[in-house]
Amino acid sequence: MSVPAFDPGVVDDVIKVWGAKSGSIIPILQGVQEKYNYLPPETFPCVAQKLGVSEARVYGVATFYENFSLQPKGKFIIKVCDGTACHVRKSLPNLEKFRKELGLSEKKITTDDLSFTVQTVACLGACSLAPAFMVQGGIPDKVYANVTPDQIPGVLDELRAKL
Ligand code: FES
Repeated sequence: MSVPAFDPGVVDDVIKVWGAKSGSIIPILQGVQEKYNYLPPETFPCVAQKLGVSEARVYGVATFYENFSLQPKGKFIIKVCDGTACHVRKSLPNLEKFRKELGLSEKKITTDDLSFTVQTVACLGACSLAPAFMVQGGIPDKVYANVTPDQIPGVLDELRAKL
Protein backbone atom coordinates (compact mmCIF):
# COMPACT_ATOMS: atom_id res chain seq x y z
CA MET A 1 0.00 0.00 0.00
CA SER A 2 1.37 3.44 -0.81
CA VAL A 3 0.29 7.02 -0.32
CA PRO A 4 -1.92 8.16 -3.25
CA ALA A 5 -0.52 11.03 -5.30
CA PHE A 6 -1.90 14.45 -4.45
CA ASP A 7 -4.68 15.56 -6.77
CA PRO A 8 -5.61 19.29 -6.78
CA GLY A 9 -9.04 18.19 -8.07
CA VAL A 10 -9.76 16.85 -4.58
CA VAL A 11 -9.30 20.38 -3.19
CA ASP A 12 -11.52 21.79 -5.96
CA ASP A 13 -14.29 19.32 -5.11
CA VAL A 14 -14.18 20.19 -1.39
CA ILE A 15 -14.12 23.92 -2.15
CA LYS A 16 -17.23 23.49 -4.31
CA VAL A 17 -19.03 22.28 -1.18
CA TRP A 18 -17.73 24.85 1.31
CA GLY A 19 -16.98 27.88 -0.83
CA ALA A 20 -13.65 29.55 -1.63
CA LYS A 21 -13.53 31.68 1.50
CA SER A 22 -11.05 31.87 4.32
CA GLY A 23 -13.74 30.97 6.88
CA SER A 24 -13.98 27.54 5.25
CA ILE A 25 -10.37 26.49 5.87
CA ILE A 26 -11.28 23.95 8.58
CA PRO A 27 -13.98 22.02 6.67
CA ILE A 28 -11.87 22.18 3.51
CA LEU A 29 -8.90 20.63 5.30
CA GLN A 30 -11.25 18.04 6.86
CA GLY A 31 -12.49 17.14 3.39
CA VAL A 32 -8.96 16.70 2.05
CA GLN A 33 -7.98 14.64 5.10
CA GLU A 34 -11.00 12.37 4.62
CA LYS A 35 -9.71 11.56 1.16
CA TYR A 36 -6.05 10.89 2.07
CA ASN A 37 -6.33 10.01 5.80
CA TYR A 38 -3.83 12.85 6.38
CA LEU A 39 -2.95 16.22 4.88
CA PRO A 40 -0.35 15.81 2.12
CA PRO A 41 2.21 18.68 2.08
CA GLU A 42 0.91 19.88 -1.29
CA THR A 43 -2.40 20.70 0.40
CA PHE A 44 -1.11 23.91 1.98
CA PRO A 45 0.03 25.86 -1.11
CA CYS A 46 -2.92 24.55 -3.07
CA VAL A 47 -5.59 25.58 -0.53
CA ALA A 48 -3.82 28.89 0.14
CA GLN A 49 -3.77 29.79 -3.53
CA LYS A 50 -7.39 28.84 -4.13
CA LEU A 51 -8.66 30.75 -1.07
CA GLY A 52 -6.34 33.75 -1.53
CA VAL A 53 -4.81 33.41 1.94
CA SER A 54 -1.23 32.80 3.03
CA GLU A 55 0.18 29.29 3.13
CA ALA A 56 1.26 30.00 6.73
CA ARG A 57 -2.35 30.60 7.70
CA VAL A 58 -3.53 27.28 6.26
CA TYR A 59 -0.58 25.47 7.85
CA GLY A 60 -1.29 27.22 11.15
CA VAL A 61 -4.88 25.93 11.19
CA ALA A 62 -3.74 22.40 10.32
CA THR A 63 -1.17 22.30 13.12
CA PHE A 64 -3.44 23.94 15.72
CA TYR A 65 -6.12 21.25 15.68
CA GLU A 66 -5.20 17.82 16.98
CA ASN A 67 -7.55 16.13 14.56
CA PHE A 68 -5.42 17.03 11.58
CA SER A 69 -2.50 14.77 10.77
CA LEU A 70 0.48 15.84 8.71
CA GLN A 71 1.78 12.28 8.60
CA PRO A 72 0.31 9.52 6.42
CA LYS A 73 -1.95 7.16 8.34
CA GLY A 74 -2.86 3.53 7.82
CA LYS A 75 -5.94 2.27 6.03
CA PHE A 76 -7.23 1.13 9.41
CA ILE A 77 -6.95 3.57 12.30
CA ILE A 78 -7.21 1.78 15.63
CA LYS A 79 -8.16 4.18 18.40
CA VAL A 80 -7.54 2.54 21.76
CA CYS A 81 -9.46 4.33 24.48
CA ASP A 82 -7.44 5.25 27.52
CA GLY A 83 -10.08 7.30 29.29
CA THR A 84 -10.63 6.66 32.98
CA ALA A 85 -13.18 3.85 32.65
CA CYS A 86 -11.12 2.00 30.05
CA HIS A 87 -7.84 2.63 31.84
CA VAL A 88 -9.03 1.05 35.11
CA ARG A 89 -10.42 -1.89 33.14
CA LYS A 90 -7.04 -2.51 31.57
CA SER A 91 -6.95 -0.78 28.20
CA LEU A 92 -3.16 -0.44 28.30
CA PRO A 93 -2.47 -4.18 27.88
CA ASN A 94 -4.62 -4.02 24.73
CA LEU A 95 -2.63 -1.05 23.46
CA GLU A 96 0.64 -2.83 24.17
CA LYS A 97 -0.58 -5.96 22.40
CA PHE A 98 -1.51 -3.99 19.29
CA ARG A 99 1.87 -2.30 19.27
CA LYS A 100 3.71 -5.59 19.78
CA GLU A 101 1.76 -7.41 17.06
CA LEU A 102 2.30 -4.58 14.56
CA GLY A 103 5.85 -3.52 15.51
CA LEU A 104 4.68 -0.09 16.61
CA SER A 105 5.44 2.15 19.58
CA GLU A 106 4.36 5.44 21.12
CA LYS A 107 6.57 7.26 18.58
CA LYS A 108 5.97 5.05 15.54
CA ILE A 109 2.20 4.82 15.22
CA THR A 110 1.80 3.67 11.61
CA THR A 111 3.02 0.46 9.97
CA ASP A 112 5.45 0.90 7.06
CA ASP A 113 2.97 -0.66 4.65
CA LEU A 114 0.35 1.95 5.68
CA SER A 115 -2.09 -0.75 6.73
CA PHE A 116 -2.51 0.21 10.39
CA THR A 117 -2.24 3.24 12.64
CA VAL A 118 -2.56 2.73 16.40
CA GLN A 119 -3.30 5.71 18.61
CA THR A 120 -4.92 6.46 21.94
CA VAL A 121 -8.01 8.58 22.55
CA ALA A 122 -9.40 10.07 25.75
CA CYS A 123 -12.91 8.61 25.68
CA LEU A 124 -14.96 6.98 22.95
CA GLY A 125 -18.21 7.67 24.77
CA ALA A 126 -18.77 3.96 25.32
CA CYS A 127 -17.54 3.69 28.91
CA SER A 128 -19.95 0.88 29.84
CA LEU A 129 -18.17 -1.23 27.21
CA ALA A 130 -14.71 -0.67 28.72
CA PRO A 131 -12.08 -1.49 27.76
CA ALA A 132 -13.04 -0.37 24.28
CA PHE A 133 -11.34 0.57 21.05
CA MET A 134 -12.60 1.78 17.71
CA VAL A 135 -11.46 0.86 14.23
CA GLN A 136 -11.96 3.41 11.48
CA GLY A 137 -11.33 2.77 7.82
CA GLY A 138 -13.58 -0.25 7.50
CA ILE A 139 -17.16 0.41 6.53
CA PRO A 140 -18.78 1.27 8.88
CA ASP A 141 -16.54 2.30 11.78
CA LYS A 142 -16.67 -0.33 14.50
CA VAL A 143 -16.34 -0.22 18.29
CA TYR A 144 -14.96 -3.33 19.98
CA ALA A 145 -16.04 -3.85 23.59
CA ASN A 146 -14.64 -5.75 26.56
CA VAL A 147 -11.66 -7.00 24.58
CA THR A 148 -8.71 -8.75 26.22
CA PRO A 149 -5.17 -8.83 24.79
CA ASP A 150 -5.44 -12.46 23.69
CA GLN A 151 -8.28 -11.45 21.34
CA ILE A 152 -6.20 -8.78 19.57
CA PRO A 153 -4.47 -11.11 17.04
CA GLY A 154 -7.90 -12.32 15.92
CA VAL A 155 -9.09 -8.72 15.48
CA LEU A 156 -6.00 -7.98 13.38
CA ASP A 157 -6.58 -11.08 11.24
CA GLU A 158 -10.16 -9.93 10.68
CA LEU A 159 -8.89 -6.52 9.53
CA ARG A 160 -6.08 -7.91 7.39
CA ALA A 161 -8.67 -9.91 5.48
CA LYS A 162 -10.23 -6.56 4.46
CA LEU A 163 -7.04 -4.84 3.33
S1 FES B 1 -13.32 5.85 28.99
FE1 FES B 1 -13.21 4.49 27.34
S2 FES B 1 -15.09 4.75 26.34
FE2 FES B 1 -15.15 6.19 27.95
